[in-house]
Amino acid sequence: MSRVSPRRRGSYGIDAPPAPAFMAVVAVLELVLAIVDRNPRPLLAAAFILTILGAYLHATLRGKFVVWAEILDELKLRGDERILDMGCGRGAVLLMAAQHLTTGRAVGVDLWRGVDQSGNSAEAARSNAVAEGVADRVELHDGDMRALPFEDNSFDLVLSSLAIHNISGRTGRAKAVSEAVRVLRPGGRLLIADVRATRKYQEELARLGMNDIVRRRAGRQFWSGGPWAITRLVTATKPERQI
Ligand SMILES: C[S@@+](CC[C@H](N)C(=O)[O-])C[C@H]1O[C@@H](n2cnc3c(N)ncnc32)[C@H](O)[C@@H]1O
Repeated sequence: MSRVSPRRRGSYGIDAPPAPAFMAVVAVLELVLAIVDRNPRPLLAAAFILTILGAYLHATLRGKFVVWAEILDELKLRGDERILDMGCGRGAVLLMAAQHLTTGRAVGVDLWRGVDQSGNSAEAARSNAVAEGVADRVELHDGDMRALPFEDNSFDLVLSSLAIHNISGRTGRAKAVSEAVRVLRPGGRLLIADVRATRKYQEELARLGMNDIVRRRAGRQFWSGGPWAITRLVTATKPERQI
């Protein structure tokens, strides 16, 4: 399978739209303050905020696609896998994964929350699947990551990108991680990219008996919200023996 390009034909919205909107408002207020007070100091604050905003918009509109294209490429998929994307939103990662498949299926599950991604809906993900030419191998399900509507051991690969941190409460996030492990087949792989709580995911995976657990930075292009929200990738493999 040749490398899947991070260039997209679909439209994938902006992650957590209130965050960049807030940054833009604060930057404008700082600029107004600088003009009204004839004081250059608020300009420094505005420049800092605009830099973070630029990094955020780059990550959401381009960087995450570049990083996930590399991650998926490194998996060397055969093409017949069943892949689950937990919190797939408009399909940014789900549809790239689907482009690696021939006879396999890429399954997305989501609650389609607009606060977590602009224009979020199953319909938006479906029309992106058509735009990317993968509608024949994509399934979309309404569902909560904390209670996945799938059988045990039914996926070869489970992914999640920038989604689990949206669950409020440590218990709910741990439940989403344990659900990912439940639906993964023995020997299957799990990849979670997220901006917060990744150390907790790592601990939960260890508690659940997963193998080869690694946590690393996902890359500068995926620098989602300044120094306090660096995206990290947690990977693990389910042991062949049932856990
Ligand atoms: C920031 S968006 C990321 C979407 C997609 N993974 C991407 O990278 O473009 C987070 C997604 O998680 C979904 N989400 C939040 N809580 C969820 C839950 N408990 N179960 C399923 N999906 C959830 C939201 O609806 C949203 O689509």
